[in-house]
Amino acid sequence: MTDPTAEPSPTQLLERERERFEAELADAVDEAAIYQVQVRFLGKKGSVTQLRKLMAKASPEERKQLGQAFNETKDAMESAMEARRKQLEDQVRELELSRRVDLSLCPSPRQPGSLHPITATRRRLERVFHRLGFDVFDGPHVEAEDYNFDKLNIEAGHPARDMQDTFFVLPPGAKRGDEPSNFVLRTHTSPVQVRTMLTHRPPIKMVAPGTVFRRDDDPTHSPMFNQIEGLYVDRGVTMADLKATLYNFVSAFFGAGLQVRFRPSYFPFVEPGAEFDVQCPFCREAGQGTQISRGCSVCKQTGWIELGGAGMVHPAVFEHCGIDPEIYTGWAFGFGIDRMAMLRYGVPDLKLFFNGDLRFLEQFPC
Ligand code: PHE
Repeated sequence: MTDPTAEPSPTQLLERERERFEAELADAVDEAAIYQVQVRFLGKKGSVTQLRKLMAKASPEERKQLGQAFNETKDAMESAMEARRKQLEDQVRELELSRRVDLSLCPSPRQPGSLHPITATRRRLERVFHRLGFDVFDGPHVEAEDYNFDKLNIEAGHPARDMQDTFFVLPPGAKRGDEPSNFVLRTHTSPVQVRTMLTHRPPIKMVAPGTVFRRDDDPTHSPMFNQIEGLYVDRGVTMADLKATLYNFVSAFFGAGLQVRFRPSYFPFVEPGAEFDVQCPFCREAGQGTQISRGCSVCKQTGWIELGGAGMVHPAVFEHCGIDPEIYTGWAFGFGIDRMAMLRYGVPDLKLFFNGDLRFLEQFPC
């Protein structure tokens, strides 16, 4: 039995310090805190170092034992601190390794745009004609008067050139009221016929879609609109080819079995000339191959929809473009693209296409 009132022996004191040390070390969470623990127990004035002084009072036998106990305690404390350091380092490392940086910031949602309904219609027309063997050509919006009018057999006094119709372009630096240059904003896609015939030898088979400009501005006319031109030149080309091509085109674009018809008309660059209509696809009587359209609001109760002009290329135009009309014949057509888009999408007002209102345009995703 040990006497509870007796002074604790040096070994007991050492044991107590060791327990305190262990508790404090367990609480030390970084290098600095471990160092503080080391100072408190093993430093010059540390508690264990102080206890060592008790050895002086001990008997030589006890001293040996005590010395051993001190050394053991010191060694044990040092390796415990080392182990704790290592443990903390490992923890830090592990934390570092398990750290996840989320790099997956959601990009701000960007609404991809869509094709303008006129562009979508133009591309569809290009595809259809391309499949029928036509090349797709392009021409400039600012066009020489010569190509837009003269070479197309439209003489100087022709009403088509009138200020009411044509935008004449002023030369660079000119003021309003000055004499215009010989350039105009093209009033139709027909000058691409001229450009093609001046640079290509027959056989020529091309379409040329694009924007054209006229001084027209009312609910059904816009000063800027779109046409597609067609031209076929070779030996022995006839009006029958024209009708067959238009028939094929119409069934590819609007659906099979619709009739096409010609009405005699006048354009200076074709002879004979015609306007061509397509049977209204909206009020066609039910059933395959039906040739009757009863009439509806789209076709203004006529059963037919006017598409554009066409005809056999005038010999004078061939001559202006250096093609011998004794050898070659050809036909041309031109019609409005916007009208086709209006029909296709059921849009009642042409202006809606051009005023850039997103609320309108967003209704045509593609
Ligand atoms: N260029 C004519 C127009 O704009 C259409 C047309 C083209 C007519 C080709 C006949 C041949 O009205």
